[in-house]
Amino acid sequence: MQLKDTYPLYLNNKAAQPNTDLAVTDKFTGELAFRTALATPDIIEQAIAGAARAAPAMAKLASFEKQGVLEHCVSRFRERFDELAYALCVEAGKPIKDAEGEVTRLIDTFKIAAEEATRNYGEVQPLDISARAKGYMGIWKRVPIGPCSFISPFNFPLNLAAHKIAPAIAVGCPFVMKPASMTPLGAIIMGEVLAECDILPEGAFSILPASRDGADLFTTDERLKFLSFTGSPEVGWALKAKAGKKPVVLELGGNAAVVVDKDADLDHALERIIFGAFYQSGQSCIGVQRIIIHEDIYDTFKAMLVEKTRSLVAGDPKDRDTFIGPMISDKEAQRLKGWIDDAVKAGAKLLCGGGLSNGNMLEATLLEGVPHDCDASKEEAFGPLANLSKFTDFYEALDQVNDSRFGLQAGIFTNNFQQVLDAWDILEVGGVVVNDVSSYRVDNMPYGGVKDSGLGREGIRFAMEDMTEIRNLVIRRV
Ligand code: SIN
Repeated sequence: MQLKDTYPLYLNNKAAQPNTDLAVTDKFTGELAFRTALATPDIIEQAIAGAARAAPAMAKLASFEKQGVLEHCVSRFRERFDELAYALCVEAGKPIKDAEGEVTRLIDTFKIAAEEATRNYGEVQPLDISARAKGYMGIWKRVPIGPCSFISPFNFPLNLAAHKIAPAIAVGCPFVMKPASMTPLGAIIMGEVLAECDILPEGAFSILPASRDGADLFTTDERLKFLSFTGSPEVGWALKAKAGKKPVVLELGGNAAVVVDKDADLDHALERIIFGAFYQSGQSCIGVQRIIIHEDIYDTFKAMLVEKTRSLVAGDPKDRDTFIGPMISDKEAQRLKGWIDDAVKAGAKLLCGGGLSNGNMLEATLLEGVPHDCDASKEEAFGPLANLSKFTDFYEALDQVNDSRFGLQAGIFTNNFQQVLDAWDILEVGGVVVNDVSSYRVDNMPYGGVKDSGLGREGIRFAMEDMTEIRNLVIRRV
């Protein structure tokens, strides 16, 4: 498999190559992988103006036409499966099996959107609730909110972009998207596929790699009626403060926890927790960072975790045996290595891992006894680190989960039904996963966080609600 040397950006549905200013590296070798065009403020302005012009025509597309666009994407992504996976493997350093998993999810996400495109329902509402409203009825429908602004992250270059693009098409909103500068290719290939859809009016989409400084208009421009951002909490909340009147959805980070109770199936919990903590080197907002284990099984389960973590194969993400690939950059790997070292200096015990080689290859690392005020515990690791702690009583474990400024998803391994229901009530998170890890996600489910982890929900149907407004019709019988 070979990538091209240069890729365009997509401006108002068309490929454009104004420059080749963005150099993207292979995250494992560190070598230049390809170059893409970088949007200037003038190009971003043209894209926003194009989206504003396209909004009425997009809103008029019939459901079956929007469905047709999404189905076209599904079949083209299937045809280009290997190329897409390879692109992720190179630009994100994602182990090839994880990359294939992401392409599978990309296809799911567009499939769900194709189905939902024909289910943009409204409601008939009897209004005759009192004498003054006798003879009145209401009908509401959902109308597209207008041009949308999307900013997507590096860790799922395809599927997290898809969670914005696919619902926008399903409801008939034009959009401008800024993919992460370190991993723009996934979104660019999606642009290439969308450009094959002649039915989309000019301006329906622009996909614009851009520097962070040049990209202010994505947040501030008032012609954009909705902003959806996935990325770090610091950047997300700062963007919200600058977004003006437009509604904002923020999918941010977390330090997700799993609770392993004494009745859990430990072999199953082990397999899932190792995956949830270390797949794609822990670079997932819902990656397992805190493993909270019942004291009766603590020593046994700790030994199992350490043995399994030590056995994970690290290396070239293109190699099918590799489980741990590189982190996205040397800077990120050094940041997390620093947090691990600081935690150990502050009294934590290093159970395994902790080593950094080749600039960004950080070993899968387990710590225990991490003081609560250490960054390794209280901040989002976003890398291959998980911390073990103990509990005596299940409800004390739930308190430990909640003792965080974040709240995205949590996993609990227990077969006690009452505890499951209580956890569902008590945990301050967007979702609770029973007998699986916090990292588990299916692309049609509501997904998002509370506290510093964000605002709003993705999962196609939920994103479609955000990208539409209710328009009411009141009818009086005369
Ligand atoms: C995320 O990292 O924000 C999303 C995780 C996922 O979609 O699995």
